[in-house]
Amino acid sequence: MTKGSPRIGSPIPRPDALDKVTGAARYPADLFRPGMLHAKAVFAHRPSARILRVDASEAQRIGGIRAVLTAADVPYNRFGLIEADQPLLCEDRVRFVGDRVALVVGETPEIAAAGAVAVRVEYEDLPIVTDPREALEPESARVHDDRPNVLLHQKIRKGDVDKAFAQADVVVEGAFSTAWQEHAYLQPDAGIAYWDEQGRLVLETAGQWLHEDRRQIAAMFAMPEEQVVIRYAKIGGAFGGREDLSLPPLVALAAWKLRVPVAMRWSREESIIGHHKRHPFYITSRWAAKRDGTIVAAQTRLVADGGAYASTSVEVLKCATIFAAGPYAIANVATDGIVCYTNNVPCGAMRGFGAPQAHFAAESMVTRLADALGLDPVEIRRRNLYREGDTESTGRLLPYGVSVRDVFERCLDEARSMLPAPFHNGAVSPLRRGIGMACGIKNVGYSFGFPEQATATVELDVHGVSIRGARVRIGTADVGQGSHLALRQIAAETLDLDLECVTMVTDDSNESPNAGSASASRMTLVGGRAVKDACEEARRRWLAGEVPAATVQYRPPRTTPLDLETGDGVPNYCYGYVAQAVEVEVDVRTGLVRVLRAISVHDVGRAINKQQVEGQIEGAIAQGIGLALTENFICERGRIVTPYLSTYLLPTALDMPEVHPVIVENPDPNGPYGARGMAEMALVPFAAAVAAAVHDATGAWVSDLPMTPERVLNAIRAATVSPLQRGQPL
Ligand code: MOS
Repeated sequence: MTKGSPRIGSPIPRPDALDKVTGAARYPADLFRPGMLHAKAVFAHRPSARILRVDASEAQRIGGIRAVLTAADVPYNRFGLIEADQPLLCEDRVRFVGDRVALVVGETPEIAAAGAVAVRVEYEDLPIVTDPREALEPESARVHDDRPNVLLHQKIRKGDVDKAFAQADVVVEGAFSTAWQEHAYLQPDAGIAYWDEQGRLVLETAGQWLHEDRRQIAAMFAMPEEQVVIRYAKIGGAFGGREDLSLPPLVALAAWKLRVPVAMRWSREESIIGHHKRHPFYITSRWAAKRDGTIVAAQTRLVADGGAYASTSVEVLKCATIFAAGPYAIANVATDGIVCYTNNVPCGAMRGFGAPQAHFAAESMVTRLADALGLDPVEIRRRNLYREGDTESTGRLLPYGVSVRDVFERCLDEARSMLPAPFHNGAVSPLRRGIGMACGIKNVGYSFGFPEQATATVELDVHGVSIRGARVRIGTADVGQGSHLALRQIAAETLDLDLECVTMVTDDSNESPNAGSASASRMTLVGGRAVKDACEEARRRWLAGEVPAATVQYRPPRTTPLDLETGDGVPNYCYGYVAQAVEVEVDVRTGLVRVLRAISVHDVGRAINKQQVEGQIEGAIAQGIGLALTENFICERGRIVTPYLSTYLLPTALDMPEVHPVIVENPDPNGPYGARGMAEMALVPFAAAVAAAVHDATGAWVSDLPMTPERVLNAIRAATVSPLQRGQPL
């Protein structure tokens, strides 16, 4: 690339792309240390039981078995992102099928696996609770003896919904459910750990936040944080699934204890059972509007299944709760968000972080209200979408940059030119086409007063009167979204350098400062500002004759916790907005839905790298196809019925629609060069857009995700029996 060519906004390909397609790139399962041993976990495979005895004697007699570790070997046997409530190895009881009871270390992976099979564990089964709606009842079995099952009950109370319902012209009710979703990153959990020459415990793996992984690992082994080093190899996807520690502390335990290098990798089945999922939600909604389409009340109850451990459940639940009324200015809002422990797989972060579940219900309700009023779904949105200066449901002013109307109108323009003029479904054809639209709002960055910052160090290479190059230190995961290239482009732009003159030091917890997690669509905004500010400060110091280097912490505007009873507070400092239109084809004989085309319009503030922004939109829509249609994760009585990709159906290239990503650029006041995050946004309204399109095609409303052929067929039959199903006025 030549000097002066545009560095920001240009579609520069990823520097790591070639190695990834040739196979040269090293993922955690490719890592190797001479003399390394191999670890295998003993999973509980039962949802709730007391551990009576762990007998490792038979396993220890196998040649090549070097150790069988149990809870007694872990100095501080608790971890967790928000709350340390999860044991690394269970002591007295197990709470879900993926709990680990022992860790076997052997000379080969096969020996370790044989040892794991030979470990005898005696259990006494305990009562289970596997439905969050039962878990919240006081008499239900407790998942944790020392605490109630309800992790959080967050309320929002704005205006007076009862009065609004009494005065409304139309009231619509709905009941929705969503399922678990598996992250299905291509590279299952893997890593190696060893002690280095400096006496530090080194863990090489893949994750989303170097310094948080280090904090939790150091705490478990009672070590000072500087004595623990986390390094990230190439990742193979994350999508929130590597926010929680899954395998990494297990392999760290083996190396810490035996003081030899140890490797560990999970099979797909182990990964599916062993790491957290997207939360299933049960949502009941009651919304009201005036004849002119003004939405006057939105009442929603959301009950989420948190699974056996806390993970990030309370934060996910709060996000879902604030988005329960969608991106609409509604005067009267009453929301109850509840998340409970159950004996199911723990749930936590997954792309969208509660917003896709909340939007599936909210956007479906808006379209059903329009239907009940005989209004166009476009018109009802035009009447109610947020404007600059509106307050959100938590009662405070929305952060500046409310652009949901911009993306919505742009989406309409694109849909008019790209989607067919009103498609007339032939009376005899079993293939019915329909079009659906939905809008979305999702926070960029941490919410609810969680400390938010990113720190970067920039060291300039100066010669005479010019800057020849720069080294940027910023501890941040590239989870495949391309954050390292985006941050490098920001540094090159700020210092007026060629891209090749900027070196990035990103993947070592002890060589780079803490930039927070690669999550919440935050890294371009928060990490990007830290890099930009550090570049400017280093240059200022150099021009002032000082050392040409600087470490700068960027802190975005403050947020606050929400009042538990009213929701009052400042939840977020930045939102991303999205509008989508999709065209589907429904086979009314089988209930099979195909998404043919999808338009996804995003306000990204400023596209730092257009190719990667479009890639994020396409990737999120692929996951949206899974969430909306194909990924049916089944747990029965706490047992996972779909732990294989042969039974849990990920969408393939053949399921992908023609995707039209559209970028809108209204600069964000805080983002570097105006950029705001967008990684999660395309997943947020997608399932609701598909549901609206299925309704447009067939007259049937599907209220449960995923919309499997069976569910679609049942909905079509119900709609045929009772035409009033279509947004029945109450
Ligand atoms: Mo994410 S769901 O913010 O890793």
